[in-house]
Amino acid sequence: MAKSAKTIYVCTECGAQAPKWAGQCGDCGAWNTLQESVALPPAKPDGRFGGYAGETDTAQIRVLSDVVAERTERVTTGMDELDRVLGGGLVTGSVVLIGGDPGIGKSTLLVQALALLAERLPALYVSGEESAEQISLRAQRLGLPGERLRLLTETCVERILALVARERPGVLVLDSIQTFYTEALQSAPGSVAQVRESAARLVRFAKQTGTALFLVGHVTKEGALAGPRVLEHMVDTVLYFEGESGSPFRLVRAIKNRFGAVNELGVFAMTDKGLREVANPSAIFLSRHEHQVAGSCILVTREGTRPLLVEVQALVDQSPLANPRRVALGLEQNRLSMLLAVLHRHGGIAMFDQDVFLNVVGGVRVTEPAADLPVLLAVLSSFRDRPLPGDLATFGEVGLAGEIRPVPNGQERLREAAKHGFKRVILPKANAPKKAVDGVEVIGVSRIGEAIEALD
Ligand code: TYD
Ligand code: MG
Repeated sequence: MAKSAKTIYVCTECGAQAPKWAGQCGDCGAWNTLQESVALPPAKPDGRFGGYAGETDTAQIRVLSDVVAERTERVTTGMDELDRVLGGGLVTGSVVLIGGDPGIGKSTLLVQALALLAERLPALYVSGEESAEQISLRAQRLGLPGERLRLLTETCVERILALVARERPGVLVLDSIQTFYTEALQSAPGSVAQVRESAARLVRFAKQTGTALFLVGHVTKEGALAGPRVLEHMVDTVLYFEGESGSPFRLVRAIKNRFGAVNELGVFAMTDKGLREVANPSAIFLSRHEHQVAGSCILVTREGTRPLLVEVQALVDQSPLANPRRVALGLEQNRLSMLLAVLHRHGGIAMFDQDVFLNVVGGVRVTEPAADLPVLLAVLSSFRDRPLPGDLATFGEVGLAGEIRPVPNGQERLREAAKHGFKRVILPKANAPKKAVDGVEVIGVSRIGEAIEALD
């Protein structure tokens, strides 16, 4: 292996450097913290000021208004849902990290998107995991046009960069970053040092040449995102795949986006013909019950820039345990405990001898407080074994004092509920519209007691 730069070992705790790896840092005494890294050439000291000039000689301090930003150019990927999470299309020269569990559909999504993108931009798919034959087979099975998409199977970053510098693709996919290595380091591919350094070199290339770059990153089993997490600050956009293995639905969420809204959600369904876009996601997260069942409540949440109807289910059951269970899937557990306390203090309904289970249908994760009121109503409905009306949707934040607080974009949520045929909406009083909405009974509540009364 050719060695161009000097490698050193840096302690992740104290930053001390050592020429050789050791189990314990000689400086701070921490164990197992030395990681391989590339030594940077020292900057040349500027004699006059005792500071460093070095590379900064060429840099200039400018006034903000003098900096003319070129308009960011966007290329549509041919998949609306992907464009949506990217903030309205792929920005040239941007670096996008796509993370997710192995087998969730990252390669499938990128092969599909790239085959479509190749019609507009020279595209190159670099795979370190699959052979060219495997990729071609998959593309054929998915019925993708393959005339324009070029493939490369290679794992050495230096060789990839030498090739793409000649080929100059407009969009480049690297699948997956854990399989690539740079010759500057001796650690194995997939190690934190390799992942970071390989990505840094690729990102530098993308920025210098204006190439759009997709990096695929596997998330490790323990949820320790050893690979992708260390890259999040280097890239412009971070997309994560969510979804349960048993369900065909795949959600792609923007966690970070320098060119668009975060928490934007793209919804896909995995079929035998690859990933299909789901244009009307509200419909899939509502399980239509033949008869209304107790413990189910429809919540109007918001994902990025669009409202979404989701079903929350609760099961309240007599607990045999001294410490009854509080289990929340797709919602925050601490928030559930807090809501139960509020329900007790301000609603007068005690559940300290009951197990409470909570689930959001379809594997969606809801993180916003607008889910508070629906959660309480679902819990209450299960506790009393009394179904909520089938045409009821709701949203609203619950405060510790038992007040129902308004949430952003109330009007839009109300319209989404109306669009899907809900006839009754319980919402925070401050979110209630001044004008009546056609065909919808709007019930504005300001206290938790009023919300409970509205059900009776
Ligand atoms: P893949 O994109 O290879 O996952 P990743 O790159 O994230 O590891 O997805 C593989 C899974 O998707 C595999 O379990 C099979 C499934 N799949 C389908 O159900 N239909 C299809 O058309 C394709 C291509 C894959
Ligand atoms: Mg893959």
